Amino acid sequence: MDQGGRGRHSAESFIGPGNKRLVHPAGGSEALGNRIIEVPDDEEAVVYRDPVAGFVAYVPKGSIAKGEALVKTGGGGKTTPCVMCHGATLRGLGDWPALAGRHPNYIVRQLWNMQNGDRGGSAMELMRSVVQKLDNDDMLAIAAYAASLQP
Ligand code: HEC
Repeated sequence: MDQGGRGRHSAESFIGPGNKRLVHPAGGSEALGNRIIEVPDDEEAVVYRDPVAGFVAYVPKGSIAKGEALVKTGGGGKTTPCVMCHGATLRGLGDWPALAGRHPNYIVRQLWNMQNGDRGGSAMELMRSVVQKLDNDDMLAIAAYAASLQP
């Protein structure tokens, strides 16, 4: 990989420089978390820090706001507002899991697996229509927003 010799290097970032395309695990055998991706400083916003794992996620500016819209309003019919089931602050509601402050790669991977039928279980039925129309950028934006929230 060309690291360009400038800027910061974001270990385990999930977004490539200058484009928001996710490299999905389905496209290869390498885990997302093993990729080293450089993101130019002017495009990044740090959304998540894990001092234990040393993890920092960098996302393009704008993706958090886009994710927030999808989560809160459903993005104009693209999906069902996540807050309805996961709680207004995404900290979980009843039996439904919390998304706030979670590892963004995990969130994206789950959404991707749900869309592709790789994640089963009866509770999953509630998520099926939710993920149906989400594209890669939507999933990344949602994960960026969720990761930026307090757990
Ligand atoms: C109608 C209710 C409902 C809505 C709306 C909903 N979810 Fe879920 N979601 C669930 C349920 C139920 C589960 C648990 C599924 C399971 O146990 O397998 C879940 C699980 C998840 C998980 C997996 C969490 C984990 O711990 O593995 C993610 C990620 C997720 N939802 C994201 C979203 C996002 C993003 C949205 C909005 C775009 C959303 N959900 C909207 C009901 C919902």
